[in-house]
Amino acid sequence: MTAKELRQKYLDFFKSKGHEIIPSASLIPENDPTTLFTGSGMQPMIPFLLGEKHPLGVRIADSQKSFRTQDIEEVGDNRHTTVFEMLGNWSLGDYFKEEQINWMFEFLTKELKLDPNRIYVTVFRGNEKIGIPRDDESVMVWQEVFKKVGIEAKSVDFSEKEGMQGGRIFYYDETKNWWSRAGVPANMPIGEPGGPDSEMFWDFGVEHKFHENSKWKDKPCHVNCDCGRFLEIGNNVFMEYIKTEKGFELLKQKNVDYGGGLERQIAAKLDTPDIFLTDIFTEAIKTIERLSGKTYSGNEESFRVILDHLRAATLLISDGAYPSNKDQGYFIRRLIRRAVRFAHKLGIENNFCSEIAKVYVEYYKDPYKNLENNKDKIFDELENEENKFRKTLKKGESMIMKLEGHDVTGEVAFDLYQTYGYPIEMVEEAAKERDLNIADNFKDVFHQELQKHQDLSRTASEGKFKGGLADHSEKTTQLHTAAHLMLAGLRKTLGEHIHQKGSNINGERIRFDFSHGEKMTDEQKKVVEEFVNTAIKASVPVTLEEMSLEEAREAGAEGAFEDKYGDRVKVYTIDGFSKEICGGPHVENTGDIKGVFRIVKEESSSSGVRRIKATVE
Ligand code: ALA
Repeated sequence: MTAKELRQKYLDFFKSKGHEIIPSASLIPENDPTTLFTGSGMQPMIPFLLGEKHPLGVRIADSQKSFRTQDIEEVGDNRHTTVFEMLGNWSLGDYFKEEQINWMFEFLTKELKLDPNRIYVTVFRGNEKIGIPRDDESVMVWQEVFKKVGIEAKSVDFSEKEGMQGGRIFYYDETKNWWSRAGVPANMPIGEPGGPDSEMFWDFGVEHKFHENSKWKDKPCHVNCDCGRFLEIGNNVFMEYIKTEKGFELLKQKNVDYGGGLERQIAAKLDTPDIFLTDIFTEAIKTIERLSGKTYSGNEESFRVILDHLRAATLLISDGAYPSNKDQGYFIRRLIRRAVRFAHKLGIENNFCSEIAKVYVEYYKDPYKNLENNKDKIFDELENEENKFRKTLKKGESMIMKLEGHDVTGEVAFDLYQTYGYPIEMVEEAAKERDLNIADNFKDVFHQELQKHQDLSRTASEGKFKGGLADHSEKTTQLHTAAHLMLAGLRKTLGEHIHQKGSNINGERIRFDFSHGEKMTDEQKKVVEEFVNTAIKASVPVTLEEMSLEEAREAGAEGAFEDKYGDRVKVYTIDGFSKEICGGPHVENTGDIKGVFRIVKEESSSSGVRRIKATVE
């Protein structure tokens, strides 16, 4: 069976169960400013899960292109990819657990003819604190379906500590068996739908000795341990909850949101733990082998990075994004550059990206017409980006040649990075190839130099605008208002000793220093994020009044730099959330902030001062 055939089988199967088949949405979300990419099939379905009527009815299925940025660094093993096709089906207030589990089992065991003895499943353990019960209902349905094929499916708990215990059905907590766009319940903003889920795993067999050869070998093997023995091949989300101010409530309708990775299902069907050894990648592997003169076997990591990254870049460009320094473009640039770096490792020294893209355009031309329609654009963009990066590499290399007889130090690496954008990993490789001596503290010095430089350019840019704002663009203004909400959230969460110690805000991010002596816990960060996101969701007007400093103080306005202010000050109020002395500008309504606020980093800045980096996306 090929991936193409599997995709068709899936869609035909759900059509036969009364589903309307819809085409894949774009990888670049339309009308959703909160995320850069479509990361799952359910993302475009949110309004309908919340109760809006879908024009095609209550049963929908598709195969959706998806892209997950958090997986970039994991690519290189036998099962992670940034881009994948998610086979999906939805019940919008129609069928629920009974039908979904029965159909999925039927699809896997009858259509794909997977051996039921090698399928394991997981369900939600429940969580009293948020009032969500253990999913025993799914356990009962799973036990019935397994019983029909003569398998007694024992349910066991705590396999992550106790091992498999002869079980077939395993309970896990919300980090594994809860699904929402934002992840675990605590991370979900108000108004977000989510629910417990039940996942299916394929067992490649203990004889592969995955566990013994893995970094988990001292802990028991269980379906979610990620040693490689088990592969998650699908996820049934029982999406019946919504997060509200008061906690979790039932949605107006019970939904099913199913998603399964096509690449993983075909790997299970072919019983190969390496998803790159499926028909999707066959031609691309041959092309890389031809260009490099090396074989896939023995060079798996480099091949996989190239295979994944260029497939992702091709699909993203076909959906209208292109390499640049920001937003989606930034990720495409990273993907292409990383692919070129790994190609360099394989000895591919000439442009090759568009050649690989050609293979994918051909492969995907039936399911995703965008590729064929935009092929010239795809090839041009790849070619341009590769030219730029290769020029960088050449310059860097000629500099390295001149180092013959000298130590390669962190300062030198930083200089190359600073002048040409030459990556530190490549300096190291080039130095090794030429047998140059690498200074002991090479990496540390590089990072120190980088930090020094960033501080210098920060000070330079901070001088430019008043109030720590890089400019008065719409996005910077939105982030500025978000920074007020964050300060209020920090004071509420950590205490009244918190004051602003400095800030620097541009269209990309907030950098914010505040008086506090300790590292924030993850929980505290979450509470602050929720505070800000609640205010954004609540669409509260932002009002401005001028008053004397005295009056401002009396009104309880927060202000860090009072001595700088004149007699009359401006006070910005967000009723119920924040009141702060400030020169502005701000958005008129918190709803204009448009996006989800997130603390990206929290670290020490100087003694008694912490620094936060935050974004709204
Ligand atoms: N939306 C669910 C997921 O992405 C099915 O896993």
